[in-house]
Amino acid sequence: MATGHERGSFGGALGFILAAAGSAVGLGNLWKFPYLCYRTGGGTGPEGTGAGAFVLSYIAAVLLLGIPVMLAEIILGRRSRQGPVGAFKTLAQGKRWHWVGALGVTTGFVLLSYYCVVAGWTGEYLVQAASGTFGSITPEGANTLFSTFLANPGKQVGWLVVVMGVTMLIVAGGVSAGIERMSKIMMPALLLMMLGLLVLALTLPGGGQALAYLFRPDFTNFGMSTVLDAMGQAFFSLSLGMGAIITYGSYVEKRELVITSAFSIAIIDTLVALMASVVIFSILFSFNTTMEGSGISNIFTAIPILFAKLPGGSFTVVVFYVLVVLAAITSTISLLEVVVSHFIDRLGWHRRKAVLLLGGAITLLGIPSALSFNVLADYTLFGKTFFDLADYLCANWALPLGGLFTALFAGWFLARHHKTEELGSGPFFRYWQFTVRFVSPLLIVGIMVWILLAA
Ligand code: TRP
Repeated sequence: MATGHERGSFGGALGFILAAAGSAVGLGNLWKFPYLCYRTGGGTGPEGTGAGAFVLSYIAAVLLLGIPVMLAEIILGRRSRQGPVGAFKTLAQGKRWHWVGALGVTTGFVLLSYYCVVAGWTGEYLVQAASGTFGSITPEGANTLFSTFLANPGKQVGWLVVVMGVTMLIVAGGVSAGIERMSKIMMPALLLMMLGLLVLALTLPGGGQALAYLFRPDFTNFGMSTVLDAMGQAFFSLSLGMGAIITYGSYVEKRELVITSAFSIAIIDTLVALMASVVIFSILFSFNTTMEGSGISNIFTAIPILFAKLPGGSFTVVVFYVLVVLAAITSTISLLEVVVSHFIDRLGWHRRKAVLLLGGAITLLGIPSALSFNVLADYTLFGKTFFDLADYLCANWALPLGGLFTALFAGWFLARHHKTEELGSGPFFRYWQFTVRFVSPLLIVGIMVWILLAA
């Protein structure tokens, strides 16, 4: 059984909320959410119609799928005090549910392999910022810088190795105290910075246009795939569906505040994604620029343009990318920790061995993703590069499937006392139970079946 080695724990509810928010807030909020808005909204050029339908679907997904599944994961972690595989094994009492945990660990493995590639971009941009490249950059210059960087296979693979190396070093050192302490500094700093940028962005000439682009309901490009994207993004951004929150939940000692925690994490995560998008789109509209590819470059090209115009901007842009790098690293850590702790708990590996072997394997798997923007750009399957395919399979399918089974398990199979001891037995419990039994599963299955039939 698990927990032969000593298990960490968070200092209190605030520590848990900020650590979980640290896992949740990452490239998903700062890069992928604005990217999906740009893509589903049809860009910011004349043919762009707006991302309102996506933003609305996303908020619905957070409320109907994200928060209920997050509560389920916290409960599973707290009741079992183990990672995903151990949690299902213990709580399912002999029934064969632990493969849901195994699916989670596998998903974490693949997800981390391409996530690290984008995390590497943030590293490059931190270096560029620190060496003053953005001092007077023009929108065209910013686009060229990014596409030249993407086209360089050596740099892509090099940064992948650096990011995985740093992640492995931190995880090898054991993580709970480090994660909690780092999150307590980083999350408030990130929130303050985003708030400052938001105020600034709204005073730009394109601020109003950005708000309209993001929040005006516009169903021109709306389709079932918009809903699938929104659902996948909700799981991805909240770190759900693969046991990361089960693992973090297993480090929570006090029973109080489970509900408050889940709502706080979801609110922080959603606000950061929305603020980042308002900032980026305000810049795009104000400086009349469009983005590399389908918007994949957003925080890398838009942000430097704004900072280049600000007094003291060449310093602040460094602070900004430091925060982005930290946000990325707190997420890569949580992903690697789930994979590594599984091999420690279930197979008795030493932490160092687990980190070295698994981290190494993840780095290797990351290489085709790093090359998807250059040498392997033309090797596509179903029109998707290796990177796109890995992301599509993990985010849009594997995480929602993991979430589906987590909801079904918590709703129908978990002994009632585990749930009522965490949530009480009042109206909130009954609402949650109804949601994880019926609403979330039917939505997830419905969306998947719809997409499969349409394909
Ligand atoms: N939520 C993180 C982000 O938005 C990524 C992430 C970290 C994640 N841990 C996870 C996604 C676990 C799914 C599962 O960038």
